[in-house]
Amino acid sequence: MGIPQTISLTDDGVIRVAQITDTHILEAPGDAFMGVDTHASLAAVIAAIGKLKPGPNLVLVTGDLVHDPSAAAYRRLAALLGELQTPVCCLPGNHDDPTLMRELLNLGFINTPRLVNSKAWQILLLDSHLTGRHSGRLSASELGFLSTTLNEDSPSNRLIALHHHPTRIDCVWMDNMMLENAAEFWTVVECRPSVRGVVWGHIHQEYQGRRGDINLYGTPSTCAQFKPSTLLPVRDDLPPAYRLLELHPDGRIETSVRWLDVCLI
Ligand SMILES: [Fe+2]
Repeated sequence: MGIPQTISLTDDGVIRVAQITDTHILEAPGDAFMGVDTHASLAAVIAAIGKLKPGPNLVLVTGDLVHDPSAAAYRRLAALLGELQTPVCCLPGNHDDPTLMRELLNLGFINTPRLVNSKAWQILLLDSHLTGRHSGRLSASELGFLSTTLNEDSPSNRLIALHHHPTRIDCVWMDNMMLENAAEFWTVVECRPSVRGVVWGHIHQEYQGRRGDINLYGTPSTCAQFKPSTLLPVRDDLPPAYRLLELHPDGRIETSVRWLDVCLI
């Protein structure tokens, strides 16, 4: 049986999405990335999401799922994510191996679809992984998929998710590894009234902006963060975080970043 390309959500009108990103799970339990035990910090984020009332309809994981791709790291990630007993949809980042990721992250509640459909919303999951590079790129087939999907009449509201930021965030070293063909992305996406928002990971810091009528959201990591507006990488001492998005049937997005009240450094 092939990997499902589309999943459907049942909802009560509002879709609640918990976005987690840049989990950077390492091969051995207890290993650290920038001084943070990434397994422990993700476990803390998952525990916080597990306590939400109401709980999310969907957990969206936007890349850099593991730090160095290995089956052991993806299996430990799957074990952690599976604790949520909620649909979890994953897309790849620059640190991932998209093939291995799809092989190992399609079990139980965990999926790697391209589309998530509900009555009023559709979430598109794009693959911007570029082998051997920290920057990202949408292939011609990925741009074609995006264009074809946006040409369909319904639903009336769409959220696009990808790993790399498709707009500059005024952080020089990070902007040097953004989505390389952002201009092509915007050519496809702009002037599409159904696109209400674009959400990404990669930047390990919070970002919120707007391009025309489209809301733009960058989300901090579940492990280590970087300071905004720097020329070179500077570690921030902020805690692990995730983003909550409430997708309303009328197209409104309510969102906030939730910082954990823990210090794991
Ligand atoms: Fe990352």
